[in-house]
Amino acid sequence: MLCGTCRVAIQRSDKLLDTASGMAPFRGLSPMSDMERARLSALEQPLDGSVRLACQLRALGDISIEALVPLSSRSIETGRTN
Ligand code: FES
Repeated sequence: MLCGTCRVAIQRSDKLLDTASGMAPFRGLSPMSDMERARLSALEQPLDGSVRLACQLRALGDISIEALVPLSSRSIETGRTN
């Protein structure tokens, strides 16, 4: 089960237009798995690759990211107390 607390916004990555899907996937990142997509969808996050789960992605090139869940609030969101 993916908790989703490691979600990040992709700040900088080359976009490559996929004419077949009309989507603009982010180049330089590993593909999104069905499990990651399902979790992001449940969290009502965009599924265009602009938000990813850091524990699931692999940088394949130069990228910049921004954490969307501050470390100080992660214990609240996950229900953990430590
Ligand atoms: S989904 Fe829980 S740490 Fe990434």
